[in-house]
Amino acid sequence: NLSLCKREPEYFSPRSCKELMERYKTEEDGLYYLTSPTGVVYQTYCDMTTAGGGWTLVASVHENNLYGKCTTGDRWSSQQRGSPNVPDGDGSWSNTVTFGNAEAATSDDFKNPGYYDITAENVAVWHVPNNERVGRWKLTSFLRYHTESKFLRSYGGNLYNLFKIFPVKYNAGSCPANHGPSVPVVYDVGDASFNHKLFGPHVRGETEPGFITFRAINNERAAMAICLGVKPKGCNTEHSCIGGGGHFPEASPRQCGDFASFDWDGYGTNAGWSASKQVTGAAVLLFYR
Ligand code: G3P
Ligand code: CA
Repeated sequence: NLSLCKREPEYFSPRSCKELMERYKTEEDGLYYLTSPTGVVYQTYCDMTTAGGGWTLVASVHENNLYGKCTTGDRWSSQQRGSPNVPDGDGSWSNTVTFGNAEAATSDDFKNPGYYDITAENVAVWHVPNNERVGRWKLTSFLRYHTESKFLRSYGGNLYNLFKIFPVKYNAGSCPANHGPSVPVVYDVGDASFNHKLFGPHVRGETEPGFITFRAINNERAAMAICLGVKPKGCNTEHSCIGGGGHFPEASPRQCGDFASFDWDGYGTNAGWSASKQVTGAAVLLFYR
């Protein structure tokens, strides 16, 4: 039966969790198989319940060793030691390299084809303690927020395209003139005040919570990809923004890494410019819808 044969691949090939939910009425959170338009089948996590559901996990940023400065495991910044000769580092924010897997998304960096293939409108962020098992992510996440403005429509439909417009690259611009968009967020777990306290007092003094910011630039023209629930007011963005280009000039390579300079005044101290132990020891899960 030809018509059946033709229908089958389509039936088993949802491209996103949103499509899976809308076409096949899937209602449960968990791991599912998706298929990219080029035919790559991959497994990822779908959040089918938050704010209407249909959220696809496309990436996680996991800090494997904050003492390693742009060394092995810093896939969202650079594994190449922070040299100015590699200004965009590993380039992961705007290339099609994939790594990791869904089940290990809180124990290692994760990037799947959805990151560059899915056309979406909004993003959601979950902060989940490192090494938590999939079934406990939602329960153990201490901060979760999402955008509602459909801002991705203006930037090519996903972060891959947004970061083509705003390269995560050393010397791509200056602060404060050349930050990318700051988008208001709605909190699903936690609130703006709790979000703010995850960063040190000096950081709180130069950020406003309740936003997510893309492609921030600091005083020394280093670039970062995502500011975690905040909009920068000052230019020491390396203490609340993650991912980066390949070179951070201030005290180089001390600020170079996936969690940039979260440990400037000590690891997990939450004093001065340092982030709390809670946020430093948690993976950042990125979703599209
Ligand atoms: O980002 C903070 C740095 O630029 C200044 O640090 O230690 O002189 O307060 P510090
Ligand atoms: Ca600084």
